Amino acid sequence: MLKSINQLDQEDDLKSFIRHFGEIDRIYLNGNSLGRMPLKTLEVIQEVTANEWQNGLISSWYSKWLKRPAAIAAKVAALINADEDEVFVGDSTSIQLYKLIFGALQLHPDRNEIIIDDLNFPTDYYILNGIMQQSFQQHKVQTITSSDQIHGNEAELSTAISDKTALVYMSHVAYKSAFMYDMARINAQAETMGALTLWDLSHSAGAVPVDVKASNTNMAVGCLYKYLNGGPGAPAFLYVKKDLQDQLLNPIMGWFGHKAPFALDPVFDPNPGIQKYAVGTPGILSLSALGPGLDLILEAGISRLRKKSLQMSSYFIGQYHQRLQSKGYILVSPEDAEKRGSHVSLAHDKADVIYQQLTHPEHTDQKAVICDFRPPNLLRFGLAPLYNSFAEIEYCILRLEEIAG
Ligand SMILES: Cc1ncc(COP(=O)(O)O)c(C=O)c1O
Repeated sequence: MLKSINQLDQEDDLKSFIRHFGEIDRIYLNGNSLGRMPLKTLEVIQEVTANEWQNGLISSWYSKWLKRPAAIAAKVAALINADEDEVFVGDSTSIQLYKLIFGALQLHPDRNEIIIDDLNFPTDYYILNGIMQQSFQQHKVQTITSSDQIHGNEAELSTAISDKTALVYMSHVAYKSAFMYDMARINAQAETMGALTLWDLSHSAGAVPVDVKASNTNMAVGCLYKYLNGGPGAPAFLYVKKDLQDQLLNPIMGWFGHKAPFALDPVFDPNPGIQKYAVGTPGILSLSALGPGLDLILEAGISRLRKKSLQMSSYFIGQYHQRLQSKGYILVSPEDAEKRGSHVSLAHDKADVIYQQLTHPEHTDQKAVICDFRPPNLLRFGLAPLYNSFAEIEYCILRLEEIAG
């Protein structure tokens, strides 16, 4: 028998985590773009500014700050089952992509094919194209196209990987549809052909289980401001499997990537380990703000988060079939739970108007539902199991139904 919404909320063993964020007057279904702020982050920022910076001044570099990037990286490593010395946190996702793509193409100059799909985030293409225009003009891109703009074309992908492939480069969970690739399978196919893989985990980290060891992943990057609640523009992470680190070059050679940064050697001598991916002075305020969000996700545990996320998205999709499909909405996410990340996307001809009414309701007794709108017609609903309830999703469905009337 189907459970009621009340029952689902009562039985939710993550329900107490909302206390770490506080109640708000809106329904926030946008944690896949910008996660909510953990209350503890206020305390951390207060401590870092007033105590460590204002009082400690330069001495805080030695007593606290120099160790902080690695401490934060260790939390990310725990989340994706990497070793602590396989993760670097700093810079933006775009910059991390630049470092890894450049290094991967430079490693195998005899292989000149790069395989991508058409479901990735724009910056991922921009960075690749820029690198190719500037430094790898002989390389060719093969784009695997999705037939429905929802699912990745895994069959075509597996036949495309060849002994000419330098790099297979995609998002694990697609930012529009939330389609999720089988990373382990694609990594294995790439390895058989001697190709490297690079995954963008921005919509996966903290949302779906990622195990870089079990899936034998070569390289990955990811945002920490989405499901990991790290704050606007939070530094991003980069993962490189240990046995590749010595072989890959970081094209942005800055003093923090030197073997001995404080020796102030005029000649660059890169750190052989993951620290080679550091470039300049780490942004301590934004790095420090990452701690509370990561701690909460680690405390909740990815299997509990995944279980609730799938319950929420399956409920959403079930309601879509019953109440929204007939109102002009089209599901743009996989029906198959195993293939779905933690957001649900709907297309509608009047998505822009619906978005306006959802986010700015006419009546004072209506709650705003914050989702995001991707022109021309897409509405994305991020389901964050740490702070979203089933009742909130039920209300969102009700509003979607009402507005499309
Ligand atoms: C999949 C994906 N990759 C990369 C980015 C961009 O990351 P950044 O702004 O940290 O460069 C985003 C931003 O939303 C994203 O969704």
